[in-house]
Amino acid sequence: MPGLFAEIADRYDALRPLQARDRQRVVALGSADWLRRDDLVVEVGCGTGRMTLPLAEISAQQVVGVDPEERMLEVARGKDVAGRVRWLRGTAYRLPLTDGVAGVVLMSMVVHLLKQPGRAFAEARRVLRPEGRMVIWTFTPRHVREFYLNEWFPSIAWIDGQRFPAGDTLEAGLRRAGFAPVAVDIEEETGALAVEDVIDRVRGRYISTLSLVPPLEYRLGLQRLEELRTLDGGRRIPYRLEWAIVTAIK
Ligand SMILES: C[S@@+](CC[C@H](N)C(=O)[O-])C[C@H]1O[C@@H](n2cnc3c(N)ncnc32)[C@H](O)[C@@H]1O
Repeated sequence: MPGLFAEIADRYDALRPLQARDRQRVVALGSADWLRRDDLVVEVGCGTGRMTLPLAEISAQQVVGVDPEERMLEVARGKDVAGRVRWLRGTAYRLPLTDGVAGVVLMSMVVHLLKQPGRAFAEARRVLRPEGRMVIWTFTPRHVREFYLNEWFPSIAWIDGQRFPAGDTLEAGLRRAGFAPVAVDIEEETGALAVEDVIDRVRGRYISTLSLVPPLEYRLGLQRLEELRTLDGGRRIPYRLEWAIVTAIK
């Protein structure tokens, strides 16, 4: 999806504010006792540094953020006034790092964008030291089937059904790349959003899938949400997110 993240880079953080559960995951990862002092902590597909910067605040290690999209990196660098993170341009297929330097490689909301996940796992494994961990945070197929926007944009379930891999597919891919053991945990997060906030997010195409929905379906879905706001402006729309939390050891 070339260019898509460049277009939304400036609004990305406002459209996808970090949730309490994201912070908990970041804190647990950045303070993990299996990390060594000289490990690099690497986030691949770091985007605007939504996770990378809090990770750098927690972590005693040097944190590195890698992303192919220069505009996302510019936003990230702009937020990193203390210069805590090393921001590098690169892709999951060719990381600008030498072998065996990382204690952890994190991919948060990235695997669904990879055309060749196996190649990316092998590359992550290359930069990890022995016993280092690859950590993947992504949505599950059930999340995709039950996503709260499906009611207004039915193509999302089909589009993301092709993109988001099941936990056992990820596990098999990681094992093929040489990781063992591999653990997949499922976590859920529930809440409700004001209809106004949902409209803002949809207008901002806060998930990349909204740029793949047919244009007519997008316009009609947005129109129906706006009608709902007119009829019942105080309405809150419940959501349930389901995450796969994958940890694979080199
Ligand atoms: C949905 S955003 C997630 C950003 C960040 N990890 C977060 O959780 O906020 C996906 C990011 O992956 C990056 N990306 C896309 N293709 C990639 C690839 N092949 N290798 C590494 N990053 C990629 C995009 O540029 C974008 O910044």
